[in-house]
Amino acid sequence: MASACSTLGVNSPRIMPRSSSGSQSRFKPLQVHCTVGELVKEPQATSTDEPLLLKAVHGEKVERPPVWLMRQAGRYMQSYRTLCEKHSSFRERSENVDLVVEISLQPWKVFKPDGVILFSDILTPLTGMNIPFDIIKGKGPIIHNPLRSAADVNEVTSFVPEESVPYVGEALRILRDEVKNESAVLGFVGAPFTLASYVVEGGSSKHFSKIKNLAFSQPKVLHALLAKFADSMARYVQYQADHGAQAVQIFDSWATELSPVDFEEFSLPYLKHIVDRVRETHPNLPLILYASGSGGLLERFGQTGVDVVSLDWTVDMAEGRRRLGADVAVQGNVDPGVLFGSKDFITARIHDTVAKAGSHKHILNLGHGIVLGTPEENVAHFFEVAKGLRY
Ligand code: CP3
Repeated sequence: MASACSTLGVNSPRIMPRSSSGSQSRFKPLQVHCTVGELVKEPQATSTDEPLLLKAVHGEKVERPPVWLMRQAGRYMQSYRTLCEKHSSFRERSENVDLVVEISLQPWKVFKPDGVILFSDILTPLTGMNIPFDIIKGKGPIIHNPLRSAADVNEVTSFVPEESVPYVGEALRILRDEVKNESAVLGFVGAPFTLASYVVEGGSSKHFSKIKNLAFSQPKVLHALLAKFADSMARYVQYQADHGAQAVQIFDSWATELSPVDFEEFSLPYLKHIVDRVRETHPNLPLILYASGSGGLLERFGQTGVDVVSLDWTVDMAEGRRRLGADVAVQGNVDPGVLFGSKDFITARIHDTVAKAGSHKHILNLGHGIVLGTPEENVAHFFEVAKGLRY
């Protein structure tokens, strides 16, 4: 089999940030080599008393940025596609403890990322709120009875994770046992506005016209729905933390479809509500917030009180850092499309991103999830280069 990873000389030229931030690359890429299907090896073992990702979020001195990738489990992996042949329904794959554990561990076994994210979906809790859904191959999420009226919203029940998704707690507990503290086990939830966009639109959407119709003609109805989601998701974060999640990411993927003034009305208060509620019970649980196309709203994401803001790739990392301030950790933000590039290009982009982020409070990741069709060997290369870095 062909080598999956290029070899970087220890003396290869250091990549300097192109921005005028003044930050300079101080890390040394080390010699790396790997092959697809083999374990991504790290030149020097990191200590395992606390996962590197948590150390970085806490602002401790770390030797390299922790690295994991959004959607690191999924269809770009042959092992996942093989499993799909036997278990063809997404709901089955994401609601059966053994399958959830197996799929979550597929990337862990090959790439050894610093975060192992639960295999699930932001829509998974919906059935527990009386909102049936499915995820259809080629079509994406489908909400069978989209919510459009006050009567529909009244039917939404509050979410009791212990009763509706016990397999999530069980899977998280097993994942913690499996990865020990070599990696951080990550949970996640959908943000109220993003969940609402699916249940009001009936699925994925291009123009978000139905939820905007609701927001801009019957705002009270949408607020009632958002409040229910905010309470339920706060509870879901607490449940995940109680069952082993060491950090939880909140996906507000479509919040940036809102103009800033509407974000302040329909998303920000509900994100803050989740953060505040979780802080009451789990003050030390790191919360990560992701939204795609986040450049126009970045400062407002900081206002939510989360520990980490996950930047999408349309924001320059050095500028994002400056705009968020030194207290907030940053995650990201390599364009997932870079993984379709040459190995040298991938290497250069990793160096550029890490140099711009600086050596403090940075989690290396993509700016959105891995795209279907991404060559696995390029993902292996990404991890190999990232794990070979030293500040
Ligand atoms: O990161 C991980 O590895 C964990 C897995 C994960 C999935 N969904 C599995 C999944 C995560 C973190 C999500 C979150 C999610 N789901 C988001 C937020 C992140 C983002 O991409 O912005 C959103 C918006 C959804 C809703 C959703 N679920 C969409 C738009 C799709 C894609 C539909 C398609 O067919 O491509 C899904 C399905 C889904 N969830 C897949 C995976 C791996 C693909 C379908 C499959 O594997 O069968």
